[in-house]
Amino acid sequence: MNPPSLFSPLKIGPYQLKHRVVMAPLTRMRAAKPSLAPRPLNVEYYAQRATPGGLIIAEASPVAANGFGSPGVPGIYSEAQIAGWREVVDAVHAKGGFIFLQLWHVGRVSHSSFQPGGVLPVAPSAVPISSEFKAMTADGKVVDYETPRALEAGEILLLVESYREAARNALAAGFDGVEIHGANGYLVEQFLQSRSNLRTDQYGGSIENRVRFLMEVTQAAIDVWGANRVGVRLSPYGIANGSGEADPMPLYSHAVKSLDKLGLAYLHFIEPRSSGAGRAEVNWQNVPSAMVLYRPLWSGVLLTAGGFSGDAAQAAIAEGHADAIAFGRIFISNPDLPQRLQHGHELTPYNRATFYGGEEKGYTDYPVHDEMAQA
Ligand SMILES: Cc1cc2nc3c(=O)[nH]c(=O)nc-3n(C[C@H](O)[C@H](O)[C@H](O)COP(=O)(O)O)c2cc1C
Repeated sequence: MNPPSLFSPLKIGPYQLKHRVVMAPLTRMRAAKPSLAPRPLNVEYYAQRATPGGLIIAEASPVAANGFGSPGVPGIYSEAQIAGWREVVDAVHAKGGFIFLQLWHVGRVSHSSFQPGGVLPVAPSAVPISSEFKAMTADGKVVDYETPRALEAGEILLLVESYREAARNALAAGFDGVEIHGANGYLVEQFLQSRSNLRTDQYGGSIENRVRFLMEVTQAAIDVWGANRVGVRLSPYGIANGSGEADPMPLYSHAVKSLDKLGLAYLHFIEPRSSGAGRAEVNWQNVPSAMVLYRPLWSGVLLTAGGFSGDAAQAAIAEGHADAIAFGRIFISNPDLPQRLQHGHELTPYNRATFYGGEEKGYTDYPVHDEMAQA
């Protein structure tokens, strides 16, 4: 049998994908204000990137009003947000595509100016992100991160309920599934990693305890969706937003093995080489490969992302390191990325300056290949 290719079909949960060029979750900060609901511009952006049998993982969306750390990010906790997302989902479905929503809480990667009532952001422990990293306030000032307030045990239970409610809201909006954002230094990862989790209760200390919050929010999503429509994203060896575990292998091996028992739709990695891809180009020499390290511990579908070209993606799939590749930055600038990779067309370079915030420039105005040919 021939090895699979980027363009062979793949079953993810109950869904039959026609190719393996997945759109990675991408924060673009262009939701309506003040509702933080998706708006027609966002519908157009996602519709442009939908393909028959292709999978889109929609941008990280906070599960609660205290889960934000940046402006213009769409939420998934209000009726207006559900209604806005329904338009996005309908447009993707109309093109025959599938779409999951990434469920997010930023924890300490926030500033009190984003918090209801101007209170401090919450986190597993009162440990600030180091001053090498800077926070942006709601009115655009660059400041040091504040020391977050440590969550009380009862509040952790309420947060798990927020994830459950958000999963229900995503179901009501018509999504095909949800992905738990367990990567990039945000709340779930703050629980996972020893530098941000100093708790002495059942959510801190041992690896088993630090993995507990991840397992609880994943289970809450499973309760709503069934395991085969829930994915989880992790970034072992990542250093985004002041994260980083000194010895990631024991922690992430345990997390991956625990998740493997649940029968999830997929596990999704961010390769260490691309940690912080949203902010700067990074040097990705001599870093380990998450897909290679953890694949032996995972029996289900494996997605990974991080600096893949079409050829590198093809090689990763043919060699069996991953089942599908999620593309971030080049999907921003190439709305027809699957077709371009399939036909070997040239790719349009992305413009980093328009990643976050704004209107159609750098968002819905990237041409498809045929338009370029006609130009
Ligand atoms: C503008 C931008 C926004 C991003 N937003 C998210 C996000 O909401 N959730 C997430 O898990 N990763 C996010 N990422 C990381 C991407 O999903 C992806 O893992 C990363 O860009 C590496 O893939 P690439 O090299 O193909 O861009 C973002 C990256 C960029 C560039």
